[in-house]
Amino acid sequence: MSSADIWPSDKIQSLFGVQHPIIQAGMVWTSGWKLCVATARTGCLGMIGAGSMKPDLLREHINDARNALAEGTPFAVNIPLLRGDVKELVQVCLDEHIKIVFTSAGNPALFTETFKKSGAIVVHVVPTAKLAKKCEERGVDAVVCEGTEAGGHNGVDEIPTFVLVPQVRDAVQIPVIAAGGIADGRGIAAALALGADGVQIGTRFAATQEASSHVRFKQAIVEAGETDTVLSLKNIGPTRMIKSPFALKCAEFEHRCASTEETRELLSQKRERAGMFEGNWEEGQFEAGMGVGLINDIPTVEQMVNRLLEEYHIAQMRIAGQQG
Ligand SMILES: Cc1cc2nc3c(=O)[nH]c(=O)nc-3n(C[C@H](O)[C@H](O)[C@H](O)COP(=O)(O)O)c2cc1C
Repeated sequence: MSSADIWPSDKIQSLFGVQHPIIQAGMVWTSGWKLCVATARTGCLGMIGAGSMKPDLLREHINDARNALAEGTPFAVNIPLLRGDVKELVQVCLDEHIKIVFTSAGNPALFTETFKKSGAIVVHVVPTAKLAKKCEERGVDAVVCEGTEAGGHNGVDEIPTFVLVPQVRDAVQIPVIAAGGIADGRGIAAALALGADGVQIGTRFAATQEASSHVRFKQAIVEAGETDTVLSLKNIGPTRMIKSPFALKCAEFEHRCASTEETRELLSQKRERAGMFEGNWEEGQFEAGMGVGLINDIPTVEQMVNRLLEEYHIAQMRIAGQQG
């Protein structure tokens, strides 16, 4: 069976020029050029996460990815729009002629036109069908609809993937990419059945050999079970993380209704870097989704993607009534 035959839609494959409609998410301190390259080599879309990079470092990662990949292999860059130096990050992407940009955590109206004028494909991450519609009106090429199961920054309305995807599907004509809680091939089959054209996967990719994050973070994902993440920091920006000592401190702040300033002060000590990049279990922040309960190892990206495809195939057969 050719790879084209296994997917119900080819919208994502033709939009990005990839073999599989599986996207490795942009993730702070986690998705550097090595993860992006390893993913791109499997026929999925790899992505460099600019959220934790200074502009010059982003440029380096883009060049390293280009040098490692065969000419013309597609890959993307994720830019969280809340970054103070967002204009400089955007400029790096324009200078480097990045062809696929995923924007998140902000207003899609901000840079879509600029990127479109440069010839880039623009995808925006949304937590509601209402915002998906707005993205479509603004000329965005596809949306990632991210449910509350997802690791990292999250929508305030806490809509789960299972009800978000079909509502976004009904609201827009542009391709829909499901995200949040997809950690194996069964999740991919379910997302496509709900109407998505593709999936974006974060936490499962974070626990791979090639992720740039600290091994302690990868181990924490493996050790965590279904009840071991929490949606925290709700007063300044809901973020799903593993229940580490820092997460418990955030919960305590929330419990006593600490002020926004106090919470920001708690965060100002570079918690994301300390956790995900330096592996400091006591002080750091470890962003991960509820799918941690489905993750039990730290394989290479190639091994993991092969497994996703196998599991997806089995799930499809099951739905078709050909097995168990
Ligand atoms: C460690 C980590 C860091 C993340 N950082 C970012 C980021 O910088 N920008 C962004 O748009 N989303 C970020 N996310 C969200 C992912 O892009 C993705 O949408 C999400 O992980 C999907 O849900 P899943 O974790 O259940 O697979 C992050 C997620 C994780 C787990």
